[in-house]
Amino acid sequence: MRQEHDNDQAGERGGAPARRLFSSVGGAAQQALYFNEALLGFFGKIVGAPLRPSGPQGSYSYYARTGDYLGLHRDIAECDVAVISCLCDDGAQAGSGALQLYPARIAEPLSQIRATPDRGLVSVRLRPGQTIVLLGGYVAHATAPMAHGQKRLISVLCYRGDWAPPLPDH
Ligand SMILES: [Fe+2]
Repeated sequence: MRQEHDNDQAGERGGAPARRLFSSVGGAAQQALYFNEALLGFFGKIVGAPLRPSGPQGSYSYYARTGDYLGLHRDIAECDVAVISCLCDDGAQAGSGALQLYPARIAEPLSQIRATPDRGLVSVRLRPGQTIVLLGGYVAHATAPMAHGQKRLISVLCYRGDWAPPLPDH
């Protein structure tokens, strides 16, 4: 599914950050990893809290067109921890398609980070086969625009951490 949305409406958590990319829900192979107890335990150790899958499946994001990107955001309330794996990254140039992270600015509103985007920026370009375990609901992050001809495919798994307050009933 193509997502094109340049009118940024990111909230402090979740909302609708600006984006240009394709996305799809994951299939059986990804789902087996998503619910794997050993992996859950491993990721939980990294973040220091028990984790549980926040939904029925993960997703894939395809940054397949020049300029595809994802604007600055923190992940939705159900997604305290994002496990992002790079499956493919062809045609990258310096910094293009990098994950831009602001780990030192965890307490600041997004507007303040946007106003001074170079401060505290940690730019990470995952190579194919690499995975990052990110406190995506807390650490603001974005994906830098793709270079001409670049194709980047990532797997995204979202987890809730048991340190988080329960969701309100609906
Ligand atoms: Fe995110």
